[in-house]
Amino acid sequence: MTQDALKAAVADAAVQEISPWLDKNTVLGIGTGSTANLFIDRLSPLRDRFRGAVASSDASAERLKALGIEVLTLNSAGILPFYVDGADEVNAALQMIKGGGAALTREKIVAACAERFICIADGSKQVKRLGQFPLPVEVIPMARSHVGRELVKLGAEPVYRQGVITDNGNQIIDCYDFTIDDPIEMEARLNAIAGVVTNGLFAARGADVLLLGKEDGVARTT
Ligand code: A5P
Repeated sequence: MTQDALKAAVADAAVQEISPWLDKNTVLGIGTGSTANLFIDRLSPLRDRFRGAVASSDASAERLKALGIEVLTLNSAGILPFYVDGADEVNAALQMIKGGGAALTREKIVAACAERFICIADGSKQVKRLGQFPLPVEVIPMARSHVGRELVKLGAEPVYRQGVITDNGNQIIDCYDFTIDDPIEMEARLNAIAGVVTNGLFAARGADVLLLGKEDGVARTT
């Protein structure tokens, strides 16, 4: 099976997972990326069964609107029953690295407002230890060099993601060759650097459900 077929399978599984809980008041949290896009596409036939969605990026908001799904602001939506999103890496504790698509800050905010985070990923994203995928850090532009120096002290090789401006007007530094022994502790340490807006470790608040696409089907882990 191709990676795209595995992503499609987990997108289908996520629709099945949330479908019984939809009602006219339901506002869903929707992530960003190719797997989330497949989920959005599969959600559109159900649009009359729920109120709308909060998106974690301008790109996802545009896709939702184009498919006739109402997009709400997070401040007007309140608590969301589900947040559905992909991941760049996920470990056995359902902690993740996210932000390959530069949407990490809004992803973390929307996820924080959700009762259940459903991670949808193809099997290639499953890792024993987080950090093979370069960890994204969103920074206030004037702090980029300072944050880079602090990241070196923590053992990372920081690389400025040239030409990328986030939906929040900030920049991204990717941390290569980063040893992450304790994801919760590292998430907090990175957040404590002046100028860091968010880092792509989703560890303190990981996923609640992982739908992982494998050759022999979708594995569900909680
Ligand atoms: C977006 O910033 C990311 O966190 C994505 O959720 C992550 O990169 C997964 O993307 P794909 O579904 O495209 O692999």
